[in-house]
Amino acid sequence: MTKRALITGITGQDGAYLSQFLLTKGYEVFGAVRRTSSINTGRLSELGVLDEINMVSMDLAEITNIQRIVEEVEPDEIYNLAAQSFVQTSFEQPIYTSDIDAIGVHRILETIRNLGAKPKFYQASSSEMFGKAQGTPQNEETPFYPRSPYGISKLYAHWTTVNYRESWNLHSCSGILFNHESPLRGIEFVTRKISLGMAEIAHKKKNRISLGNLNAERDWGFSGDYVKAMWMMLQQKNPKDYVIATGKTHSVREFAEKAAQAIDLEIEWMADKDDEVGVSKDTGDTIITVNKSFNRPAEIDHLLGDSRLANNELGWKPEVDFEGLVEMMVQSDLKRVEQGAVWF
Ligand code: NAP
Ligand code: GDD
Repeated sequence: MTKRALITGITGQDGAYLSQFLLTKGYEVFGAVRRTSSINTGRLSELGVLDEINMVSMDLAEITNIQRIVEEVEPDEIYNLAAQSFVQTSFEQPIYTSDIDAIGVHRILETIRNLGAKPKFYQASSSEMFGKAQGTPQNEETPFYPRSPYGISKLYAHWTTVNYRESWNLHSCSGILFNHESPLRGIEFVTRKISLGMAEIAHKKKNRISLGNLNAERDWGFSGDYVKAMWMMLQQKNPKDYVIATGKTHSVREFAEKAAQAIDLEIEWMADKDDEVGVSKDTGDTIITVNKSFNRPAEIDHLLGDSRLANNELGWKPEVDFEGLVEMMVQSDLKRVEQGAVWF
């Protein structure tokens, strides 16, 4: 029988790649969207899957809405990808972030608990929960130490997912995913900000990119690889939580250097007043400046994941490496800028 998947956050980066993946697996895909005044299905259109998805209206703030939709759709699997996902914003909107990212998850789990036939449940947990990491690399045994309202909310949702598994025997699990990017990444995240910025510099639409902490290190993978791990987790007989990461870490500075190389520029870093700038060796133009307003009130300096458990038990491993990811993102933005087709 055809399986039904309900994906919350379908209009986001991972929602687009996951729906594409599940459609290739023969699923009937239901996409939960919150009401917005503008069309925001661009990612689904770009992957060519929009017409194959059954859209339903659902906001994580409203439990009656969640209950009605879950009862109507009768999904076999629920993938909860919806979230206020930008860490910086969570410092300015901490209560809203926790309402959606923490209590919103609780609302879904309570809904499932009250159902007769209970769907499997995937929760989008995050390496932000490791925060000020208490060991490196981070795996399923590493203690959590979140550093933002976003990380704290995700940790609440994480433990609630564990608790409903242990208390009510739900097939619920969390993927503790490290940063994953793609050409469909939102433009406020640092990788996409850099890839789009470099494409605009190459096409002379912009002179420089203004960044915050150049020394922050992240374990960056490709979203298309990571959504497969979500599905693999729900196919396990016994639900369990897994770390998903590449096992390699790079700084924002390195990301910028690689992205510059993709447009044939080499960056030289130079001291500038109380900070530094990135200057193109070829043209002498300043292409990177530092602006402290992008710094976080509490920063996470270094993240590095160890996903050996997922490799051994799920057979999951990433296919796209750091160089491949940067190249893919810059090339895609070069094309978009050339065609005047940056849709977000
Ligand atoms: P994203 O691009 O920001 O997408 C977030 C999605 O959540 C969007 O579809 C958004 O809808 C939806 N949403 C936000 N608030 C909602 C609400 N109140 N009710 C219903 N939907 C709502 O995020 P992503 O990168 O795809 O990440 C997917 C999930 O994985 C998120 O939960 C994120 O926190 C988590 N995660 C991401 C990473 C990563 O590196 N990408 C790593 C670990 C965990 P709109 O289009 O209307 O805004
Ligand atoms: N956004 C942004 N903009 N970040 C910058 C900038 C800038 O101009 N300059 C430096 N950074 C640094 C941030 O301080 C942070 O240390 C790092 O770049 C990555 O920032 P983001 O790309 O915004 O991602 P994130 O790591 O905070 O959060 C992402 O990954 C999490 C998983 O660890 C998001 O996708 C979260 O939803 C996800 O859970």
